[in-house]
Amino acid sequence: MCGIFGYINYLVEKDRKFILDTLVNGLSRLEYRGYDSAGIAVDGDKKNEVFAFKEVGKVAKLKELIAAEKPDLTKVFDNHAGIAHTRWATHGPPSRLNCHPHRSDTAWEFAVVHNGIITNYKELKALLETKGFRFETETDTEAIAKLAKYIYDEHPTIDFTTLVKAVIKELQGAFGLLIKSVHFPGEVVAARKGSPLVIGVKTQKKMKVDFVDVEFAENEQALPAERASHNVALKKGNSLLAPPDKSLLHRSQSRAFLSDDGVPQPTEFFLSSDPSAIIEHTKKVLYLEDDDIAHIHEGQLNIHRLSKTDGTSNVRAIQTIEIELQEIMKGRFDHFMQKEIFEQPESVINAMRGRLNVKEKTVTLGGLRQYISTIRRCRRLIFIACGTSYHSCMAVRGCFEELTDIPISVELASDFLDRQAPVFRDDTCVFVSQSGETADSLMALRYCLERGALTVGIVNVVGSSISLMTHCGVHINAGPEIGVASTKAYTSQFVCMVMFALSLSEDRASKQQRRLDIMDGLGKVSDQFKEILKLDQSIKELCLKFKDHKSMLLLGRGSQHATALEGALKIKEISYLHCEAVMSGELKHGVLALVDESLPIVMILTRDDIFAKSLNAYQQVIARKGRPIVICNTDDKEFPGDKTDKIEVPHTVDVLQGLLNVIPLQLMAYWLAVAEGLNVDFPRNLAKSVTVE
Ligand code: F6R
Repeated sequence: MCGIFGYINYLVEKDRKFILDTLVNGLSRLEYRGYDSAGIAVDGDKKNEVFAFKEVGKVAKLKELIAAEKPDLTKVFDNHAGIAHTRWATHGPPSRLNCHPHRSDTAWEFAVVHNGIITNYKELKALLETKGFRFETETDTEAIAKLAKYIYDEHPTIDFTTLVKAVIKELQGAFGLLIKSVHFPGEVVAARKGSPLVIGVKTQKKMKVDFVDVEFAENEQALPAERASHNVALKKGNSLLAPPDKSLLHRSQSRAFLSDDGVPQPTEFFLSSDPSAIIEHTKKVLYLEDDDIAHIHEGQLNIHRLSKTDGTSNVRAIQTIEIELQEIMKGRFDHFMQKEIFEQPESVINAMRGRLNVKEKTVTLGGLRQYISTIRRCRRLIFIACGTSYHSCMAVRGCFEELTDIPISVELASDFLDRQAPVFRDDTCVFVSQSGETADSLMALRYCLERGALTVGIVNVVGSSISLMTHCGVHINAGPEIGVASTKAYTSQFVCMVMFALSLSEDRASKQQRRLDIMDGLGKVSDQFKEILKLDQSIKELCLKFKDHKSMLLLGRGSQHATALEGALKIKEISYLHCEAVMSGELKHGVLALVDESLPIVMILTRDDIFAKSLNAYQQVIARKGRPIVICNTDDKEFPGDKTDKIEVPHTVDVLQGLLNVIPLQLMAYWLAVAEGLNVDFPRNLAKSVTVE
């Protein structure tokens, strides 16, 4: 959901071509996060001038616009700050005006790119209008730029960090943002609250500093009081902007620096909403935490806190990221989704590496080790997630119930919050998320933390909010997932959660044989994936049957209902074909009325102990002249080849069968979308990582 990118060079001479190319390239890497418009702000030819380029559509369109406007590409800067954004519209439709960066005024005194939502922007806007500001867009972000100018005009001697602190104290909602200003040339301030930001650092000499001290506000008591007085002012429609107390404004002295023996050295900084846009420049990164304000100026990076909160560390370590560039490139594949589907034999191995030892029959999840006995005693295990991640929880529910005998519930994060569902101190709440940043899941996590529950994260993105905020957890190690439709994250989440259930049941004598069977099954999954992926071309041909249809059904029973839900979501989101997942047992209670000889139907009919019941649904469909495509186990005589269109998958232990069954459905969704000529990696109206409610 929206991508932010910034590039700052200091004592490193770069021409404008390099700066623009770097920003545009950064946006291309982030395009999967939003692709309805894109924009850039860089320094102009004259002092105090800003060039902004904004275009509706994908980053390629922005590139064309920049070329058409012919800026002087040869102009050289040895200290320059540029910011950029690729958008997924929330407030205001995609248009040049609504696209970021947003500005304080026509002179671009302050330019802002922002990810997230400012929930009180209407109040801020109303207030700023009374101060003479005229708004030109329908976005929430514009209020940030105008607020910065208002405070600056009131306090012209203010430093950049203090100014941004004063601004963000007035913001409610979630944000990751970058601000650049003609008053602070070559500087950028970044701030985060609920929306990820990572800073890459590239120095010319060997980097001596591997952490950055955090500057806490000195007078912590003053902040809440000040905040409260602003809220009151805001309610009255008065002046928020109640000039911040000067002593507050100037108390932060920079003390963290990133330099060689304290002497500023040639440095480049890359700021981004995720590391995939940074890794081709540097592997050294630092993740900002909520309420961090990072100030980059003269080769230095200083991090300040809005206020000191308990438990916040006073260092931000510079980490080395392990992602390789090829992991975020399509390579020999036409689309990221296709690449990620084909990566699954490897990604499931990565999920199990160092954790499952099939020979010794052991499972060790290091991130849970200290908590596992507490979790065993919990009163309930509540799985909370959205979309595909929710489906993976549904898929493993039966496995947890069977192995642990702990009551399990699986919740959609948004619905869980809407209901304000009861949560207790002795509950364990498991948050499953590829991105670790999904707003609904994050809010549900805060809700559970406030109620004292133990929280577990099952997350792909290292350093993401959910992985930082949960008490313990497991990284699924699927590697970067760029395709908007989640594929390899689903199977890796599935595998990690099965390992979690195995760990919880380690002490249960009656479950030992079953545990061993499941471990054996896990050991075979990767090879079985490879077998299924060989069906790629035959699935492509089968999909032609569905061409030009408007709707289809996908039936499954037991844990295969989750597979059907996930398959239907994949088909809907990238091929735009309406696909409804139906629990087979429910078919006769209504949906059967839809069935005739023409309605496309896929039925999951792999063998498990409810197979006979699943067959009932099959017979009901056949009796209505339905001709379903069947996903069944290899050589199942129940479905003779001459009578049934079928996709054969290897047999495995029942709780893992869904892992195998989902692969043909992912391929089906992919080929259906390709057959329609659709852009698989950029489905309309969607974006990866939904950081708004
Ligand atoms: C569908 C898809 C979404 C996500 C959902 C949750 O293919 O990707 O349904 O699963 O938005 O995202 P995460 O897992 O990042 O919390």
